[in-house]
Amino acid sequence: MGQQLDPWWKKSVVYQIYPRSFMDSNGDGIGDIQGIISKLNYLQKLGVDVIWLSPVYDSPNDDNGYDIRNYRTIMQEFGTMEDMEQLIEEAKKRGIRILMDLVVNHSSDEHGWFVESRASKDSKYRDYYIWREGKDGHPPNNWGSVFSGSAWEKDELTDSYYLHLFSKKQPDLNWEHQPLREEVYQLMEYWLKKGIGGFRMDVINFISKDEQLPDGIVHPNKLYGDGSPYFINGPKIHPYLQEMNEKVLSKYDVVTVGEMPGATTDDARIYTNPNNKEVNMVFTFEHMDLDSGAYEKWNVQPLKLIDLKRNFEKWQHALHKVGWNSLYWNNHDQPRVVSRFGDDGEYRELSAKMLAICLHLLQGTPYIYQGEELGMTNVEFQVLEDYRDIETLNMYQEKIEQGISHEDIMSGIYAKGRDNARTPMQWTSEGGFTTGTPWIRMNPNTDEINVEQAINDLSSIFYTYQKLIQLRKQHDIIIHGSFQLLLADHPNLFVYKRQLPDEEWLVVTNFSNQSEQLEWKACDVPSESGKLIISNYDTVQKNEKIVEIRPYEAFVVAFKKGIEN
Ligand code: NOJ
Repeated sequence: MGQQLDPWWKKSVVYQIYPRSFMDSNGDGIGDIQGIISKLNYLQKLGVDVIWLSPVYDSPNDDNGYDIRNYRTIMQEFGTMEDMEQLIEEAKKRGIRILMDLVVNHSSDEHGWFVESRASKDSKYRDYYIWREGKDGHPPNNWGSVFSGSAWEKDELTDSYYLHLFSKKQPDLNWEHQPLREEVYQLMEYWLKKGIGGFRMDVINFISKDEQLPDGIVHPNKLYGDGSPYFINGPKIHPYLQEMNEKVLSKYDVVTVGEMPGATTDDARIYTNPNNKEVNMVFTFEHMDLDSGAYEKWNVQPLKLIDLKRNFEKWQHALHKVGWNSLYWNNHDQPRVVSRFGDDGEYRELSAKMLAICLHLLQGTPYIYQGEELGMTNVEFQVLEDYRDIETLNMYQEKIEQGISHEDIMSGIYAKGRDNARTPMQWTSEGGFTTGTPWIRMNPNTDEINVEQAINDLSSIFYTYQKLIQLRKQHDIIIHGSFQLLLADHPNLFVYKRQLPDEEWLVVTNFSNQSEQLEWKACDVPSESGKLIISNYDTVQKNEKIVEIRPYEAFVVAFKKGIEN
């Protein structure tokens, strides 16, 4: 199978840290790099190979670091460049690589390039950004920003508009302009020379815009046009990624992950096919949109498991032997999965383990978001003032102005708001994140859900994740096996197989709080017995013809083909 030739990142598990909320070492209420260093032993115990750091660069924090003021310095609140170098070094000693967030679809409006660019139409930096004249006192087109309002901001100084797909403090960089691309390649080199393990590339499939910038369709209940067809997977995206690869990435043994909202399986086959030399894997979004209403995430719909299964099946098949995918339930932009697709009450532990087993047995590189390994849950702050996220706050304002009730908006925030993921990491029953006042409130359930408790309980969710990480290192079938969905139309069970010529694994998971009956025959396995690999209940009934699958149960059984087990 040529396993020796596998790149390291196919066997890796990545742990994402949102530095602001991970661990505060100096009592200012904000997580920092020394805090991360102090927890490396914990991550080593979990067994992860890579840490993806959400941005740690200097930033005015309009979008918590996704608005970068200087790509070569560290945010003061997080520490210094020496701290960063120490982190890379200390992680390396523990066999862990550091993946940096590369945010180059846009910069901060306080970045030196933008300060110069806005100063005059003749500035050498003018074309680093996307400037256009208005049309009869209106913006150049009708696009809305992801964070509400128009995607254009008028700058009085030169009486022109600049494009910002996100907040107005995040002007979009102009990738058409070759000197800008060279700057990006140089800053990438700067970090690669420090020995980092690669980049997670923020909305990287937005960087090429249709130069005509046509108006977008205005969907029902929307105030602005949807420009996405003109910037998602835009006309020059493949040449840009290939150029970046040729000029920079090809010289280093690193991993690249493209965050790509709106990428289809066909797109991902192109982006991740190694022959194309673009990126190693993508973050896809389709499975994260299955519980959203039309055109927006806030309008929550119950997840239909059948849709989720079909979606995973489509992606597993599309990339098998062609490219590679990332596997995730959580990140700093998504609500907590145990609250979303599991049960954060009675079945919190069981459902968190079930979700972990379901995801980690798929083909791709799994990502664990801080606290996921504890089964951290969503949070419901009673007052809007406790929320910090710009997307949430802008959306609230826009919807109140449209006459939507406070209660309706809050229920969307409780279900989907990004701050669900951003409450501080729960280290101890008192919190343990900071000795000061945290920048965002803790989830009040830290007395029950925390690292101290998890480490001391060998049956905790933490140890399920630890075992899943070990399994990936030991069993080639998880890396290479083909995927086959079983019982596709079952509303509550997600059952699939992974197969190699001489071996097959059956993964059985129950996404409901009811018991379900599984007919062993329907799974078409070589024999009724097999070797139990992992489970979330103490015992597993697998030698019966009909097996009862208990609420949120999950187990994996391995069979040798052609041999009675
Ligand atoms: C995607 C990031 O994950 C998100 O947190 C950020 O707000 C936007 N890109 C803009 O950078």
